[in-house]
Amino acid sequence: GRKFFVGGNFKMNGTIKSIKEIVHNLSTSKLDPDTEVVIAPPSLYLLLARGHLSPNIEVAAQNVFDKPHGAFTGEISVSQLKDSNITWTLLGHSERRTILREQDDFVATKTKAALDGGIGVILCCGESLEEREQGVTTDVVTRQLQAVNKTIGKDGWKNVVIAYEPIWAIGTGKVATTEQAQEVHAAIRKWISEAVSSEVAEQTRIIYGGSVNEKNCRELAKQTDVDGFLVGGASLKPEFVQIINAKA
Ligand code: 13P
Repeated sequence: GRKFFVGGNFKMNGTIKSIKEIVHNLSTSKLDPDTEVVIAPPSLYLLLARGHLSPNIEVAAQNVFDKPHGAFTGEISVSQLKDSNITWTLLGHSERRTILREQDDFVATKTKAALDGGIGVILCCGESLEEREQGVTTDVVTRQLQAVNKTIGKDGWKNVVIAYEPIWAIGTGKVATTEQAQEVHAAIRKWISEAVSSEVAEQTRIIYGGSVNEKNCRELAKQTDVDGFLVGGASLKPEFVQIINAKA
């Protein structure tokens, strides 16, 4: 079976004080041992979070660069994450694709660099409202994933968690229905079985993100192809613990 996976994406939020409080709350709460938990604070606070967290919780960067070191002002390398005991990174979040104009190919080279350097990747994909209304959701999501598939090959997927995050559901309070989420997750798994292999399709975690909260998480978690969540706003609040325990 696939281990349930819940990520907290803090985005550009938090202070030393608030992140210490969140980390303390998580470290002292009773968390379902069958759920893998990863939090992604802003890069400035990665070491702070790592230093205060209990070891059963992992830490992710929100982004990483694809070059090993050198004159790349403002960027962080995969080996620097490793050096700091940061074991995961988010990549391809819709806010980076839209606001920072990241293209599929750039997300793909960064994914390859992270995996080659031994860092797990939470790879985000998802369609806009306009794309959903045009009926091209599956095309958009599989195009985003195929760019990565071309660079990483079959073995790379072992250390990738796919986060399906419909853009219209992010930060809007408008969560996808359980049927909408299940439908796209199943389409992604079918695409993996065709484009990679049935074994990889069976093993890859596909998590849902977009307005997940303590009220809607349990129904979503019951869907066959929903293997966890990527949580934004609610990951900054005490209710994140209830979301982590959605399957318990
Ligand atoms: P919200 O949970 O705030 O909608 O954000 C989802 C998200 O973008 C997680 O990466």
